[in-house]
Amino acid sequence: MATDEQLAGEASTTPIGAKGLPGTVSRTPEELANIVSLFASSDEWIDKVRLRAERRWYERLYHGSDYDIWVISWLPGQSTGFHDHGASSGAFVVASGILEEHRPGERSRVIHPGKPRAFGPDYTHDVLNVSLAPAISIHAYSPPLDEMNEYELEGSQLIPRERAPAQGETLDQESRVQGRMPVDRTGALSIEQVLSAVRARLRRLSPDEAYEAVAKTEAVLVDIRPETQRAIEGSIAGALVVERNVLEWRFDPTSSTRLPVATDHDLQVIVFCSEGYTSSLAAAALQDLGLWRATDVVGGFHAWRATGLPIVPPGTA
Ligand SMILES: [Fe+2]
Repeated sequence: MATDEQLAGEASTTPIGAKGLPGTVSRTPEELANIVSLFASSDEWIDKVRLRAERRWYERLYHGSDYDIWVISWLPGQSTGFHDHGASSGAFVVASGILEEHRPGERSRVIHPGKPRAFGPDYTHDVLNVSLAPAISIHAYSPPLDEMNEYELEGSQLIPRERAPAQGETLDQESRVQGRMPVDRTGALSIEQVLSAVRARLRRLSPDEAYEAVAKTEAVLVDIRPETQRAIEGSIAGALVVERNVLEWRFDPTSSTRLPVATDHDLQVIVFCSEGYTSSLAAAALQDLGLWRATDVVGGFHAWRATGLPIVPPGTA
């Protein structure tokens, strides 16, 4: 686990020199990629993250002599607009959610958590959250960011706009997002993108973990499969059967048709379906209602059965 102190310690071992003067030591893009990966895997940034509807939220968490580190949150639709990073090299990694990177003349890149993107000076890009879920990313720059320039994309050319103050990926162009979004960025996502986005906010459970949670805690196991599927595949004794089409109404504590068990938002609802796909979407829908612990079973009923956990065979219910 990397801490601020560890990262600061790295910086403090580096000779200090002003940008452009003898003695300057800048981190390479590869080093910055390692730094953001290390920092993202720590728990030093999680409780600092905020979400802001009016613009992307960001904060510089570390400012050393040779590099700085920022954390940024992105709600759906938020973007940077095209920009460079002055003379700084940089790297960023998605810690949660999904981002998309655009560069003129290149195919857009979907950036999933885990694999950092690194770049040298004079690199221009536009980073967006086109998913339906919030995203969080960790960024590092060397030398520390002190200049950013915005660009307009005209055809395939980037045309400089006014010079922007250095605020670390802080350029927001909501008007561009809202008013001049190219027609192929209407927010339409493939089901794979939607699934990946919702799973980024779930702490999914293996069948064994789900079994243990139900046995040892107040967690509720919920079977959302349709009746025909349950009849063919069998069921799990003790699981609540709440089909997908009524799920939200049964677990929203404010719903007049809620289940007796759905009294508050802290209830851990563990959803399963046949193979663990629809259940992820269903768990995310429950999270949207404030049931923040809602999750699902990886692999669904099939994985539960394959693990050897107890089931009620079809025809014996
Ligand atoms: Fe950037």
